[in-house]
Amino acid sequence: MSNYHIKHLEEYFQIHRKSVRDPEGFWEEVAEEHFIWRKRWDKVLSWDFEKPEVKWFEGAKLNITENCIDRHLRIRGEKTAILFEPNDPKEEAEHISYQQLYERVNQFANVLKDQGIKKGDRVCIYLPMIPELAISTLACARIGAIHSVVFAGFSATALSTRINDSDCKMVIASDGSYRGSKTIDLKGIVDEALEECPGVETVLVAKRIHSDIEMKEDRDKWLQPLLDKADTECEPEIMDAEDPLFILYTSGSTGMPKGMVHTTAGYMVYTAYTFKNVFQYRENDVYWCTADIGWITGHSYIVYGPLANGATTVMFEGVPNYPDWGRFWEIVDKHKVTQFYTAPTAIRALAKENLECVEKHDLSSLKVLGSVGEPINEEAWHWYNDNIGKKKCPIVDTWWQTETGGIMISPIPYLTPTKPTYATFPLPGIQLSLMDEKGEEITENQVDGRLCIKFPWPSMARTIWGNHKRYKETYFSTYKNQYFTGDGALRDEVGYYRITGRVDDVIIVSGHNLGTAPIEDAINEHQAVAESAIVGFPHDIKGNALYGYVILKESGESRNHDNLRKEINQIITEHIGPIAKLDKIQFTSGLPKTRSGKIMRRILRKIACNETDNLGDTSTLLNPEVVQEIMDNVLKNLKI
Ligand code: WTA
Repeated sequence: MSNYHIKHLEEYFQIHRKSVRDPEGFWEEVAEEHFIWRKRWDKVLSWDFEKPEVKWFEGAKLNITENCIDRHLRIRGEKTAILFEPNDPKEEAEHISYQQLYERVNQFANVLKDQGIKKGDRVCIYLPMIPELAISTLACARIGAIHSVVFAGFSATALSTRINDSDCKMVIASDGSYRGSKTIDLKGIVDEALEECPGVETVLVAKRIHSDIEMKEDRDKWLQPLLDKADTECEPEIMDAEDPLFILYTSGSTGMPKGMVHTTAGYMVYTAYTFKNVFQYRENDVYWCTADIGWITGHSYIVYGPLANGATTVMFEGVPNYPDWGRFWEIVDKHKVTQFYTAPTAIRALAKENLECVEKHDLSSLKVLGSVGEPINEEAWHWYNDNIGKKKCPIVDTWWQTETGGIMISPIPYLTPTKPTYATFPLPGIQLSLMDEKGEEITENQVDGRLCIKFPWPSMARTIWGNHKRYKETYFSTYKNQYFTGDGALRDEVGYYRITGRVDDVIIVSGHNLGTAPIEDAINEHQAVAESAIVGFPHDIKGNALYGYVILKESGESRNHDNLRKEINQIITEHIGPIAKLDKIQFTSGLPKTRSGKIMRRILRKIACNETDNLGDTSTLLNPEVVQEIMDNVLKNLKI
């Protein structure tokens, strides 16, 4: 029996056991199915979590676009590969067939080559959710260039930091973008970012909003005329299994964002395998993931995983509330979507609206619903199950990370009984462990601990771009011979996992990972600010919102607090982007610190969450009086 499509839960157990007993045999069998290999691997896996170094399918040669596009042309040439749904529902949707995708990717690849991009060069892609975004990532992969997609909601500073960190030679952008009824001047942001990026030689500009923008001579080039002249054939660059495919930045708890490096063969095999099994994709299904390609979910489950399976994948440019809160359901109805994959923050926002927004639309095409990005709370889970799935569609609560490349824990639709708020079982090939505070593995069930992974999987990030030491320290140094996820988890009596949230200083706001340190650094740039600390607190829709404690310099003390709050959020918007703005800012004379000078965030978190009854052990505090001051100010209901 093929292990490419799991059919029964018993089969899941069997396959999982086999994948543990013989991981190499297991992945070899998956890799032998369906894919085009220009040369077969010599060795399935070599690994060492001490170094750390992991290699999958060493010696193999391939091009991922051949597997995502060329391979389908003979039987699926006319089938829609990408179904583009524009921001404005009055604008017609675009069906891009596999044949057209082939031609457009090849043309784009030829343009990249003409502009001097070669194998191994880094190309930054800063585009809204328009077809050029998917096409340009694939075009990079076609010629072996490494794409670094930066979410088009990031600010100029965040963009330039990412461009410089990986020395990108080129930026692919658009004149602007639509976001509901608004337009955004993306090219303006790029221009500002590039003042700090001497290494960028070329900017290719796609026309989307047809705004009047400035084009810098010799650097900026309109994309379309170049594409029009380009040939529709481009030989794929033949890559080694472990050649980098892309870099994608994710926030860390300290300092610079981490450029996670994903490589070619393992990533392809794993995203293809998990897409097929987790979404139970069938030939005529229409699959829709609402994420942005600027995040890992979009890379793995809008572009690579679906296309590797010859699927039809929907790309939506707009937002859930434009022109009204029924937009998602209108699209499901219009395109007869069969699998729908979104984030809890979107579900919570949608659930607040009148049910009429849902009921107006026929959702009977839906078969599987997915959730990703943060823990889904019970209420949201039931709303999704009752009103969208009509209790007929299994919900796959998929746990994974930018670093893992693909889904790690998830129910298999129709096989794994779902349980609200539980991501359930690890997928085949995934060996999890829960660790206690002493660094020992917890073997019993019904306990919580820190979630680790004890054996490599094909799509794991191989390093942090330019900083292997940080990769080792962040993921492989907390527990010996374990990859540490940074998440806490609970294992129930049958072995189901429930993710309880981050245990480090990363806060997930509306599904976006935000490290506290970069936000604090931004705030501290304000001339009136001496020091600051950020914590998360629960928020109805965003999951978490940010609460900042700020100490002012003497010079700032006389300033109007409301104005300061606005300025602080303005600085954060400039340094990171509007997603990192603070909901609450409390000015204080000090921060609770341990004798070694570390801020005790645990206490600040409790105060922000209104859980001041039991602050826990405060005996190691250097300045307990500050805690009292902060609490008094909250009680006095000072405007925060
Ligand atoms: C969180 C997104 C609970 C988790 C694919 C993880 C989740 C971080 C879930 C990674 C889930 C993701 N349940 N928490 N189903 N999925 N997370 O890198 O804390 O943007 O470590 O990858 O999101 O976020 P990232």
